Amino acid sequence: MNFLLVLWTMMPPYIANTIAVITGGRFPIDQGANLNDGNRILGDGKTWTGLIGGTLGGIFIGFLQLNYGNTIVENFSETEGEQLWGENPFVIFFLLAFGALLGDMVASFYKRRKNLDRGAKYPLLDMYDFIAMSLLLTITFGEGWLQTWIFDGFIPIFTLLILTPILHRGVNIIGFRIGLKNEPW
Ligand code: CTP
Ligand code: MG
Repeated sequence: MNFLLVLWTMMPPYIANTIAVITGGRFPIDQGANLNDGNRILGDGKTWTGLIGGTLGGIFIGFLQLNYGNTIVENFSETEGEQLWGENPFVIFFLLAFGALLGDMVASFYKRRKNLDRGAKYPLLDMYDFIAMSLLLTITFGEGWLQTWIFDGFIPIFTLLILTPILHRGVNIIGFRIGLKNEPW
């Protein structure tokens, strides 16, 4: 398993997470409600427009990759492009993309319980939440699709551990500079 192929395969969750920042901001999922601790359930940073936009955006990128990316895949790996996404590509794209947004929501729930306001910095959690849940959902419901390569030696896991925070931070700095994001993390 080559590290470029790992990145390619993880495009739906990375993109889902990025698109949510663009489409998000309206209709908070928790509808403004607090828990007993006096803090918001999730906060204003987790909205329906972000969840739906990000999920659809991730699925859309997956279909672009599936339909137009086979030669690219074959240029940088031994993998047969047409077989990369398995038997049920839609299910895989959905799990990867929705998992990313779900991980981000679970992290927000946890941050609010720790009395952290929306947008507060929480370095490791913010960097890995989306990819971790994306992998977890796909491993659980993806009928073995992810297992065939994610546990194929150290390269896949190592690639994700190293590159995820770099990409995450890089994209967020750009988002911050162009005014899409309130914080550069
Ligand atoms: N966003 C959204 N809905 C989501 C995820 C993200 O609307 N499900 C949008 C929000 O506008 C959010 C921005 O993307 O402010 C950046 O996302 P993130 O950094 O995850 O949210 P924070 O504002 O930092 O909130 P939290 O502290 O809860 O992570
Ligand atoms: Mg944040």
